[in-house]
Amino acid sequence: MAFKGLLLEESGGKVSWKIATLEESALPAGDVLVDVAYSTLNYKDGMVLNGLGRLVRNYPHVPGIDFAGTVAESSSPEFKQGDPVVLTGWGVGEQRWGGYAQKARVKASELVKLPHGLSLKQTMTIGTAGFTAMLAALALEAHGLKPGPSDQGGGEVLVTGASGGVGSVAVAILAAWKYNVTASTGRAANGDYLKALGATTIIDRAEIAQPKRPLDSERWAGCIDAVGGPTLACVLTQLKYGMSVASCGLAGGNDLPTTVIPFLLRGVNLLGIDSVRCPMPRRQDAWKRLAADLPLAKLDAMTETVPLGGLPALAGRILKGEVRGRVVVDVSVA
Ligand SMILES: NC(=O)c1ccc[n+]([C@@H]2O[C@H](COP(=O)([O-])OP(=O)(O)OC[C@H]3O[C@@H](n4cnc5c(N)ncnc54)[C@H](OP(=O)(O)O)[C@@H]3O)[C@@H](O)[C@H]2O)c1
Repeated sequence: MAFKGLLLEESGGKVSWKIATLEESALPAGDVLVDVAYSTLNYKDGMVLNGLGRLVRNYPHVPGIDFAGTVAESSSPEFKQGDPVVLTGWGVGEQRWGGYAQKARVKASELVKLPHGLSLKQTMTIGTAGFTAMLAALALEAHGLKPGPSDQGGGEVLVTGASGGVGSVAVAILAAWKYNVTASTGRAANGDYLKALGATTIIDRAEIAQPKRPLDSERWAGCIDAVGGPTLACVLTQLKYGMSVASCGLAGGNDLPTTVIPFLLRGVNLLGIDSVRCPMPRRQDAWKRLAADLPLAKLDAMTETVPLGGLPALAGRILKGEVRGRVVVDVSVA
């Protein structure tokens, strides 16, 4: 059956887009066909839509690294027609066609059943960005972070790139878990937005844009970092003894101009966060925690909903750090 999707084509090294009518026979192999209801715009989607980073090798291509929808057909015993499902990562929307279309075909082993307590749309408000924020928060706790006073493993927890997708959900999760959250942003105008999500302190990202010395004063009990580059290097110099930063993004650069001194003299931890190939039990746990702990009322405040055709204009803006919170794509509207 024919359906609509956002199709990227390449000609002479330039990538262009159109809303196309597609056939099911063009979808990649897989044992579950999904009627997609919602997808989202993540930083990586911005790169794909702009043909950057050699993330896509084969055109024509349907982007969209995550989606939520209903099973239309399944040859897997794990899923039956009508089951609501969620997908993030696994190279979908990069190596294979993704969620910016009304149908997608994937492997059953890549799908998560709709977490109890969340609607399809809410899962995509969270999307890859919010799922990554939860993985990062869980990693910090697994490495000793606790709410409460400094002498009991608590203290100020920093979120960098705070107004973005990962950052906004990270602020909301940490605040819900009773942490004292400091949000770092380059957009002072977003201060009230970040406070409404639960940040107690807002700092200008310029304050942590560069390390000042190999070891700075100890300030952060933990950090969820969406920025990378010299910002991450600076955070390492300011972590409290034995505490951790969860590195999940590169919005400020993919280099890491640091020294080993914070590791050797303060025993701090640099935790890598990958949402794409995250194993299924950890995925299911993270979604369960998102459904249980994330204040859903805050999701609406951080979400803009757009049709498929609204994506290309936003793709450039997310790469420039101009999108606030999360963008949900209603794929029923071309
Ligand atoms: N590890 C994983 O599995 C995984 C999963 C999802 C995303 N990511 C990565 O996480 C990062 C954030 O993703 P996202 O979807 O949240 O993107 P996003 O919505 O664009 O958020 C990034 C935020 O970083 C800040 N920023 C942008 N440019 C900056 C610069 N040059 N220097 C310092 N700060 C800058 C901005 O926040 P302020 O305006 O508040 O400063 C921006 O809103 C991306 O690098 C993405 O690739 C990784």
